[in-house]
Order: sequence, then structure tokens, then C-alpha cells
Amino acid sequence: MSVNIKLIKGDETLDISVAEGISIMELKHEKQCEKFLDDCYECSCEGSLACSTCHVILDEKSYAKLENASDDENDMLDLAWGLTKTSRLGCQIKLIKELDGIEIKIPSKTRNDASGSK
Ligand code: FES
Repeated sequence: MSVNIKLIKGDETLDISVAEGISIMELKHEKQCEKFLDDCYECSCEGSLACSTCHVILDEKSYAKLENASDDENDMLDLAWGLTKTSRLGCQIKLIKELDGIEIKIPSKTRNDASGSK
């Protein structure tokens, strides 16, 4: 089973289909979108909830299907640049079939406390 997703960065979009079950963070390593994400999506702690560089903004319909963020995720989201009401951390979101058609916007900036703002 695959999941159709739309990635958005600035004015650019990329429509792809990926295997069900990978996280949004893991899209960085998907051949079909690694180039698209290379210069804009960092995920510097590789999913250990120690940064906010995997911050993404989701479409409202998909956001509503997700379980609530944990306290640890919310703590990190508070540090994210450009937080919105549909913001989540990409390392915490698995692309399950219920999210088919999800739109994932990559914020134009990140805040990385380890290396300063980017
Ligand atoms: S990659 Fe650092 S919290 Fe998601």
C-alpha cells in the first residue's frame, strides 16, 4: 500500500507516492524527493525530539486525523519557527493510508538551537 503526498516548499510542489508507514522525516531519504528536501528540511536530531528542524505544516483535514501531539513534541514545537495551528514535527508522523492525499508544507526557515537560526 502506498500513500500519495504533496510536498510544498515556497512556490514549488512535488506530488509523490511513498510506502505506507514511513515517517515524514524519512522522506529525506526517499530517492524521489531527497533532492526537493535537501536544502530545506534538516531533521538534525534524527527523531529523538531534541530539535524543531523537522517542523512541517499540514493541511487541516490531514491534521485533524492525527492523534494529539505528546507533551515532548509540543515542547519542541513551541521552539519551531513559524508555528501554525496545523504544525507538527515530521519525525513523529507516520504516513499511514488514512493520510492519503496529505499536503506537507516545509516552512521557509527552521530554528536549530544547536547551530543557531537558519
Ligand atoms: S528530527 Fe529533531 S525533533 Fe524531529
